[in-house]
Amino acid sequence: MPAPSLLPLALSLDTIETWALTWLPILFMGLIVVLIGMTMRYMPRTKPQEIKPQSSDSIGWAEVAGVDEAKAELREVVDFMRDSKRFKRLGAKVPKGILLHGPPGTGKTLLAKAVAHESNAKFFAQSASSFVEMFAGLGAARIRRLFRVARKQAPAIIFIDELDAVGATRGKDISGEKDQTLNQLLVEMDGFSSADNIVVVAASNLLDKLDPALLRPGRFDRQIFVAPPDLPGRHDILRVHSRDKPLGGVDLEMVARQTSGLAGADLANICNEAAIFAGRALRDVVLMQDFENALERVVAGMQSRRVINDHEKRVIAYHEAGHALCSELLTSVERVHKISIVPRGRALGYTLNLPEEDRYLKDKDELIDHMVVLLAGRVAEHVVFGAITTGASDDLKRVYELSRAMIAEYGMGTALMSRRLPPDDYSVSDATRRLVDDEQQHLTDMAWRRALEVILAHRPLLDALATTLLQQEVLLRADIERVVAEAGSPEGNGKPSAEAGEARKPVLPPVSAEVDTDSVAAVLPSAAPVPPPHPSGRGDSPR
Ligand SMILES: Nc1ncnc2c1ncn2[C@@H]1O[C@H](COP(=O)(O)OP(=O)(O)OP(=O)(O)O)[C@@H](O)[C@H]1O
Ligand SMILES: [Mg+2]
Repeated sequence: MPAPSLLPLALSLDTIETWALTWLPILFMGLIVVLIGMTMRYMPRTKPQEIKPQSSDSIGWAEVAGVDEAKAELREVVDFMRDSKRFKRLGAKVPKGILLHGPPGTGKTLLAKAVAHESNAKFFAQSASSFVEMFAGLGAARIRRLFRVARKQAPAIIFIDELDAVGATRGKDISGEKDQTLNQLLVEMDGFSSADNIVVVAASNLLDKLDPALLRPGRFDRQIFVAPPDLPGRHDILRVHSRDKPLGGVDLEMVARQTSGLAGADLANICNEAAIFAGRALRDVVLMQDFENALERVVAGMQSRRVINDHEKRVIAYHEAGHALCSELLTSVERVHKISIVPRGRALGYTLNLPEEDRYLKDKDELIDHMVVLLAGRVAEHVVFGAITTGASDDLKRVYELSRAMIAEYGMGTALMSRRLPPDDYSVSDATRRLVDDEQQHLTDMAWRRALEVILAHRPLLDALATTLLQQEVLLRADIERVVAEAGSPEGNGKPSAEAGEARKPVLPPVSAEVDTDSVAAVLPSAAPVPPPHPSGRGDSPR
């Protein structure tokens, strides 16, 4: 009979059901807890990093050069931390926050390292990107922990590198996590629980993008702009980085003069590359030649093994000679230091100019002269070969950017002198936009005509430069001066000032024997701009 055997089966099904109903949810919850635990184990654990003043790679004030203002401000804070009683007696409070901002590689992180070494206070460093997490609230918790640890050990300095990662203006982050992190930072810096004796130093590249609440007095009260170094500053930085290298007759001031606009990181790189060049040549000392090579590599890129046919080589030589000729003849333009038609990096040839001094303001005529030099390469090609190549794309890009900025940003147009016109301003009328375009066209046409005038008037000198360049491939300052003197320049010193004055007058000079008057009309730009070159054209003449 089947009945007695069915009963235990039914019973067991019943038991299983009850068991499952009781235990399965618990098992499921347990599994979730284990999974979360495993995820937490693999999540990056970031602890505030405490930097001891006597750590092995400690950096002193002597290692930071060329940023004297920033150094002076930070030294004040270090003094405060060392001897806070002296200031407190006078009722002074320690500055709460110091924000170092400026272009990349100017030494912001390096300055913070020097502060860590020089002040007697505890120093905690953490990168702002370590506060950015997938889980809401985790970043804020990390900020809380950082300040808690620092407060326990006060007086202390907290350094937050690359502050832009969390400091961007609130309300733009969809998840809200970054805003929460920033709010916590704001509260810690100047809220109910804020404490004395904690200084927050932060570094950032983009001051404009930071939230205004961060920048108010009481939070980052001191904002220090760490600018790219000037000439004496570059000299000092080069000295710092070549201290441990045996130099043989290297004129560091000359290197400093050739590196206008470069930041400390680039200069450190040049010193290192120079030492590598010397090592590769199995020498015991680093020579000026190594620095020249290193500079060339950093500015223009590695020498490439591209094979260039004879015609292309002639075109490149005339292109660079055009740049050099106009640089020599226009007084406001920096002198040419070196011309090369050896391909490097993306450039097939380049002309290096050497500024006499650091300049901070430029007038309209100087900017136009700069455009003349940029366009001179293309104009020389056109005058000599009657054809234009893709080689001038980089020059044309710079001319476009410069002329646009002159009209829209610097108010250097004839009809738009009292307004700045930001590119993303949608309230600008179509008529104004057209005016900007017309004014820009006028400027570039003017520069083109001037370049043409100069090149036609000095065709023998252009030929001499190009021929010597084809023979030697690289021309240095002395070679250029010699060629200019031999080609019968009025003053023979490579910088005939009266000549330059003439070149600026809108008078067409005598046409040289090889170019007939028709081709002059052909090369003058008409109302229609020259068709844009192929985008893959070579970039050249880094300056
Ligand atoms: N003023 C300077 N004096 C000496 N060395 C410098 C200076 N500025 C930069 N350097 C060199 O460049 C390297 C990079 O500098 P640093 O890391 O401080 O740049 P940074 O301003 O923090 O750049 P980023 O904004 O990209 O973080 C330094 O390690 C140092 O070797
Ligand atoms: Mg940095």
